[in-house]
Amino acid sequence: MLSRLGLLRCAPARYLHNGHKINPSRDSMERFLRRYRHRRDSLIRPTILLLAAYPLLAHDVITTKITWSREVSRIVYKRCASCHHDGGAAFSLIDYAEARPWAKGIKDEVVTRRMPPWNAIEGFGEFKDDPGVTQEELEIIGDWVEGGAPEGNPSYLPAKPRQHTAPEPFRARTLTISGTLVATRAIDAVGVQSVGGALQMIARLPDGRIVPLIWVQSFHNGYSGPYYFRDPLRLPAGSKVELTPSTAEATLLISTPKQGR
Ligand code: HEC
Repeated sequence: MLSRLGLLRCAPARYLHNGHKINPSRDSMERFLRRYRHRRDSLIRPTILLLAAYPLLAHDVITTKITWSREVSRIVYKRCASCHHDGGAAFSLIDYAEARPWAKGIKDEVVTRRMPPWNAIEGFGEFKDDPGVTQEELEIIGDWVEGGAPEGNPSYLPAKPRQHTAPEPFRARTLTISGTLVATRAIDAVGVQSVGGALQMIARLPDGRIVPLIWVQSFHNGYSGPYYFRDPLRLPAGSKVELTPSTAEATLLISTPKQGR
C-alpha cells in the first residue's frame, strides 16, 4: 500500500517527462483507489447506523465479562442469601430474575457498607464468619452492575444455598468497658458482645504492641453484635483496652485462661 502511494506521488512527474498520454501505473492506481473507497464506505455506513442506534440500545449493552451465573451469584449466596431468600428476613435475591431489578441497589448497598448489616470495618480486627464483603467482591459486583448486569450461562450457577441456621450461642463471660479497662489479670478476649454505636476498640499490650480489635460504624441499624474474633486474643495482665470516643461503651466477651497457660 505504501509503495503504491509512493508510485502515485511520482506518477505526474513521469507523465510530464515521458509525454505519455496514459500512465498505466497511475491509471491502475486510480482504479485501485476507487475500489478501496467503495469498500471503505461500505464499512463505515453500517457503523454510523449502529452508533446512531446506540442510545436506544445503551440500556442493554453488556460491557463486562462478569456474569450473575459465574461470579455474582456465588457472592450473593455467600454474603446475602442467609437473609435474602423466600421466607427470610428480606426479599429473595436467589434467582437472576429476582436479583436483576435490584442490581443498582445491590451495588449501592455494598459500596456504602449498609449490606450485609455488619457495621464492622473490614481490616480492623479479624472475625469468625465475617460476613463483610471483601474489596475484591465489591469490585466484582461493581463491574457487573456497571457492565449491564448480565446473566451469563446458567450452567455455571452454583448449588442453591442451604437455609440459614442460627449459629450456636457462644458461652462466654462478659466484661463491660466504659472508655478504658485495664486487665488486672490475663484474659482471653473472644469477641465483642454489643456496641451502642460508632466506636473503635484497641488493646495496648504491656510489651507496647497495639492490637486493633474492632471499628464499628453505624451503616445500618440491623446489627450491633455479637462479633467473635477469629482467634481468641490473649491479653496479659496490665493490658489496656481503649475505646474511642472515650465516652463509648461496649461489652467484651472473655474466657479466663486455664491455670498455667
Ligand atoms: C442479616 C440479614 C441480611 C443480610 C446478610 C443482607 N441483607 Fe440486605 N436487607 C436486609 C433487610 C432486613 C433489608 C430490609 C430493609 C433494610 O433493613 O434496609 C435489606 C435490604 C436490602 C436492599 C434494599 C435496600 C433499599 O431499601 O433500597 C438491598 C439492595 C440489599 N438488602 C442487598 C443486600 C446484599 C447485596 C447483601 C449481601 C452482600 C445483603 N443485602 C445482605 C437484611 C440482610
